[in-house]
Amino acid sequence: MRIAIAAAVAVTLALGACGQSSEPASAPAPAAQATAPQPAAAPGPSAEELQALVAALPAPLNEGNYENGRRVFAQCRSCHVVEKGGGNRVGPNLHDTYGHPSGRAPDFRYSPAMANAGVTWDFATLDRYLTRPRDVVPGTLMVFAGLRKPEDRRDVIAYIAAESQR
Ligand code: HEC
Repeated sequence: MRIAIAAAVAVTLALGACGQSSEPASAPAPAAQATAPQPAAAPGPSAEELQALVAALPAPLNEGNYENGRRVFAQCRSCHVVEKGGGNRVGPNLHDTYGHPSGRAPDFRYSPAMANAGVTWDFATLDRYLTRPRDVVPGTLMVFAGLRKPEDRRDVIAYIAAESQR
């Protein structure tokens, strides 16, 4: 592009300083610009690779659908991130949650109810918690109506478990 501009300036100057260069230099610069390679998005696993992570999880999560889980997680995202090192929001970071004891996200101020819940977030416990959080942790500060559809719960748990391996 810089070369094209330099060329245009050179042509303009060559046409003389009398200001009659009514025709701008006709170099097809825009076409050259359009073919410039776009910076690639950060390389990440493909949809197939992510679904393969789900397929390797213990039953029944291996039946899960990563893509649906990602969509369902939109309901959690205002309060949680699952990315490693993504920090806490209103709720704790969920990267190291699946398969682990409750209440251990670094630097998160849990309610006494959650801090003392003493549950392990395996599939069965998460499935109940995401149906109705208070049934598993009475007094929890997580304000969430619950996911009615069993496959949405399975898929969002599979999504969290798969993301926790990245
Ligand atoms: C309105 C905010 C909000 C939403 C929406 C929400 N959560 Fe939470 N979540 C919280 C808070 C706050 C806590 C900590 C609760 C406590 O300390 O009592 C929590 C705790 C948790 C825990 C326990 C974590 C631990 O470290 O022991 C899990 C698991 C969890 N949430 C999963 C989810 C999932 C999955 C969704 C979406 C389906 C969701 N949450 C939606 C706010 C939310």
